Amino acid sequence: MKIGIIGVGNIGGTLVRQYSKAGHHVKMTNASGIEKLKDLASETGASGVSLADVINDVDAIIISIPMLEVPKLPKGLFEKVPANTPIVDTGNYYPLRDGKIADIENGMPESVWVSNQIRRPIIKAYNNILAGSLMNSGRSKGDPQRLALPVSGDNKESKNLVSTLLDVSGFDSYDYGTLEESWRQQPGSPAYCTDLNLSQLKKAIAKTRRDLLPGRRDLGLSFILKHKPEQFIPLYKEFAQHFRVIYESDLEV
Ligand SMILES: NC(=O)c1ccc[n+]([C@@H]2O[C@H](COP(=O)([O-])OP(=O)(O)OC[C@H]3O[C@@H](n4cnc5c(N)ncnc54)[C@H](OP(=O)(O)O)[C@@H]3O)[C@@H](O)[C@H]2O)c1
Repeated sequence: MKIGIIGVGNIGGTLVRQYSKAGHHVKMTNASGIEKLKDLASETGASGVSLADVINDVDAIIISIPMLEVPKLPKGLFEKVPANTPIVDTGNYYPLRDGKIADIENGMPESVWVSNQIRRPIIKAYNNILAGSLMNSGRSKGDPQRLALPVSGDNKESKNLVSTLLDVSGFDSYDYGTLEESWRQQPGSPAYCTDLNLSQLKKAIAKTRRDLLPGRRDLGLSFILKHKPEQFIPLYKEFAQHFRVIYESDLEV
């Protein structure tokens, strides 16, 4: 498959490695210049290209940038991308980083907001796993300890294609619904960064309470921010455990 990745940080960079290793042809772009992607390009065989090129002639596009950057993408960027090419949003809304976004504060699901910004349907995936876990927790299909990640969106074929990509990353997937329902995998939900297997994930998604999301999101973030940034990836297991404690009344793990 040919895949274009916008944003090559903790999540996007990990996906570049995983997809390339699986034999996919990956193009990638960042904000500060593709010269900075040279090492990753030689490590993986992926190509660092311009934003215009990264979305051209690909089978799937991943957007993995901070949410405040989304409105800064050129207007009409995706106009020429065929309608059946899935565009995946890995993003999360953190007001501390992204500033307050009124529509989301008023209850609009985060990926609906992203979809409105880029004027294209979105598939939501990869947003609810810590980068350290994405790097290290993938397992082969059928492994009883394999974790599962939710996928939501309005197009079944696109969701199926994204599920094959999640499989490459080493995760089962759970398609539970539309983009309007995607608040169930947002920060503050019991499915958020709690590293669950498929049956646990199904229960967590079903039990998500929308009214509790912002408070629990901020509780989770306040724990993470007690640590230094260089600890974020190595401490992924401790963070996931802490997230489980926050949601323990909702989880059967
Ligand atoms: N970190 C996690 O554990 C985690 C887990 C799940 C979901 N997420 C979400 O996924 C998204 C990405 O997170 P991350 O941690 O991977 O971010 P990150 O490490 O900060 O990397 C962000 C990447 O986006 C690029 N970028 C920023 N603005 C851009 C633009 N306008 N055009 C093209 N590229 C742009 C940056 O380029 P430069 O390097 O050139 O600045 C960088 O490569 C966020 O919404 C985050 O909330 C993160």
